[in-house]
Amino acid sequence: MNSHIQQRYVFAKDLIKNVGEIALSFYLNRDKLNIQHKKGEAQDLVSIADQNVEKEIKTALKAHFPDDGFLGEESGADGLDKDFCWVVDPIDGTSPFLYGLQAWCISIAVLYKQEIVIGLIYDPLHKELFHTIKGEGAFVNKAPLSASKATSLQEGLVGLGMSHRVPPSTFVPVIDQVLKEGGMFVRNGSGALTLAYVAAGRLIGYFEPHINAWDCLAGILLVQEAGGQTNDFLANDGLLKGNYILASSQGIFNQLEAIRSLTL
Ligand code: IPD
Ligand code: CA
Ligand code: CA
Repeated sequence: MNSHIQQRYVFAKDLIKNVGEIALSFYLNRDKLNIQHKKGEAQDLVSIADQNVEKEIKTALKAHFPDDGFLGEESGADGLDKDFCWVVDPIDGTSPFLYGLQAWCISIAVLYKQEIVIGLIYDPLHKELFHTIKGEGAFVNKAPLSASKATSLQEGLVGLGMSHRVPPSTFVPVIDQVLKEGGMFVRNGSGALTLAYVAAGRLIGYFEPHINAWDCLAGILLVQEAGGQTNDFLANDGLLKGNYILASSQGIFNQLEAIRSLTL
């Protein structure tokens, strides 16, 4: 394995746990946070917690890997032409975070020459670090992860994600069809954590018609390394424009892909 990738993996695992504690202390004091609504999208919230955690990550990366590129939800892109590029969502699940629910996390992925090579998702409330390096399997803390072996929607729960970036009418047929096929859905408000749960086999799949790279790159590698299947998210400029995300057990991928086609 490329020792430069390994070096970043070791560093990132410490970093994400450290900033996780910062995020957790904001969460425990969230009544003091000033919640802002981002312009242009209903339900899109941000607070100083998101901005502060991203700043901590960016500053640490600048100090240790000054030549690497960066793409963060709150501060945007910087040096995406570099061999290594970090893709960061400082808090995924900002609504649950601010409303005192439990599904939120920090998500960090590393790209090497446009390929995802590291994926980390940390859930500070449950002290679960989901982590993977390409080719070496996926883990939660020290335990190996294995995606579900489900072959039909009836065999488990599917995560569905939705935002106001997509017209509601495109999504309703998806829910309808999942139910008609004997499935059941959950939406927890964190796409990253939902993907980690697919990698862990807790959910059998996840679909969202549009999601951004910082929400899902770490989770995509986790699912792949846990033996699940995903779409080619980075196709069609997914890194900058976002794309749909479909991730599941290998046995239900085609069934979910057929349901996704209802959104086209
Ligand atoms: C959002 C969450 C949500 C998903 C949205 C994302 P944020 O990210 O991942 O589950 O449905 O598409 O934008 O705003 O909580 O970082
Ligand atoms: Ca997010
Ligand atoms: Ca976020």
